[in-house]
Order: sequence, then C-alpha cells, then structure tokens
Amino acid sequence: MLKKLIRRKQQTISTNLYDRKKLAQQEQLPNHIAIIMDGNGRWAKKRALPRIAGHHEGMMTVKKITRFANEVGIKALTLYAFSTENWKRPKLEVEFLMRLPEEFLGTYLPELIEQNVQVKMMGNLDSLPAHTKKAVVNAMEKTAANDGLILNFALNYGSRDEIVQAVQQIACEVKNGTRSADTISEELLNDYLMTKGLPEPDLLIRTSGEVRLSNFMLWQLAYTELWFTDTLWPDFDEACLMEAIESYQKRNRRYGGLKGEEVK
Ligand code: IPE
Ligand code: IPE
Ligand code: MG
Repeated sequence: MLKKLIRRKQQTISTNLYDRKKLAQQEQLPNHIAIIMDGNGRWAKKRALPRIAGHHEGMMTVKKITRFANEVGIKALTLYAFSTENWKRPKLEVEFLMRLPEEFLGTYLPELIEQNVQVKMMGNLDSLPAHTKKAVVNAMEKTAANDGLILNFALNYGSRDEIVQAVQQIACEVKNGTRSADTISEELLNDYLMTKGLPEPDLLIRTSGEVRLSNFMLWQLAYTELWFTDTLWPDFDEACLMEAIESYQKRNRRYGGLKGEEVK
C-alpha cells in the first residue's frame, strides 16, 4: 500500500516535471546557462563524510543536469568546476578535484558523444596536472565535431585572470603596431576572452546560499539574470533547474531600456 502510494507520488512528480518542461519549451529558453556549483563540502559535512565525498556526489549532479539541460534544449551550459583561487585548498582535496575530470569523462564521454554534446573548457589548461589536461583535451577532441549542447567547464578559471590575459594580448598588438588603440572595443575584448564564440550567459545559477560571484565571468554576466538557491550542489536536481528556468522566463530583460507597454 505504502509502496503504491510512493510510486504514485514519484509518477506525479515526474509527470509534473515533464509537463513543466514542455511548457517551458513553448517559451523563450535561456540559450546559455552558467552555474556556480557550490556546497559540496557542506553536503558532506551534514552527513559526517569527508569533503571529497561531496565532490564525488557533485559530479553525479553534473551528469544529471547535463542530460536534462540537453533534453530541455539549452544550447550552452557553463559549469564552474575549479577556480584559480581553489588552489588554496588542502593538497589532498585539490588532488581529488583534479582526478574528477578523468573519472567523469572516463565513464560519461561515450554518452556525451552519443548525445551530440560538445565539450569545451575555459581556464588555464597548461597549469593543470598532466593527467587532468589529457582527459579534458581528449574529450574536447572527440566531441569537436558535435553540434548539440556545448558543455563548457570552467576549470582553473578566474575572471580577473581572463581579463588580464586578454588585455595583455591586445596591448602586445598595439605595441608591435599590428593594431591601433582606437580599434579596441567591447566586441574586440569579447574575442580575446575565453568565452570567444559563446553567447553571453542568459541565466546564472549559484547553489548553496552564497550570494556572490567568486571571480566568475565578471565581464560576461553584465546583463545576465541571476538566480540563487539554498540547495547544495549535490542535492540540485532537474526540478531545481526547471524552477530556475521558469523564474528566468518571468523576468523582464530591459538592458537599460524600456519594453513594450513601458514605452507608452
Ligand atoms: C564547490 O563546493 C566545489 C568547488 C569549489 C570545487 P565547495 O567545495 O566550495 O563546498 P562548500 O562551499 O565548502 O560547501
Ligand atoms: C566558487 O566556489 C568556485 C566553484 C564553484 C568552482 P567557492 O566555494 O570556491 O567560492 P567562495 O570561496 O565561497 O567564494
Ligand atoms: Mg564553496
């Protein structure tokens, strides 16, 4: 009896999610969703587990959310996996985090290929451990021709570092005479950032109750809609993503101007 009730409840939840997905697909979806996946450590602490157990569980959430974002029809998903500041963490935690891309791609790459997902990475690739770099480069190569969801990992990424690198490159061109200073524009800077070719995020999600950007996509988020949740990343699921998308679809994006009725 109880089992039957539980099954019925589960069926209602999934039908509900299916209906919500269909409804959302009839409206303007965010093209690009960026997520600051936070709260793995606290998730583990709540269960008296080591922090790395939280990171492992967080990786399972990455799989779940990638599948669902693809199913919904999101074009690009950027996931903040490791910041330039995260090197400050204990050595063992950093080592574990640097093993996760291999584990994730080792088990999941065939499915990503089959689902036409294109894996990308932004961040300083060269200072990653060789084994991490190898796994990421292999995934990027094997999925380069795919044209479905872009799964963009921010790994060893810092937005200030990204902007400084872009400015250095442009400054070099000005110095050696291949560019004049008056050709420097917002579009040009966009082309020197690690997000070159990607649309700006329409929706930014941060989990775990923190309400800050932690050096993430400072330039690109200028007009992005922000959505924060107390849910810890390992607990984040399809329904949470749906909630964020639904909230996005109710927003009025003005970009500093006025819209529709407001003009009158
Ligand atoms: C996010 O979870 C994952 C990374 C930053 C790598 P945290 O490890 O920051 O988890 P909390 O914030 O300590 O709970
Ligand atoms: C941001 O989370 C980085 C990632 C999610 C990879 P942090 O947990 O490092 O951010 P702070 O330290 O709380 O700002
Ligand atoms: Mg954190």
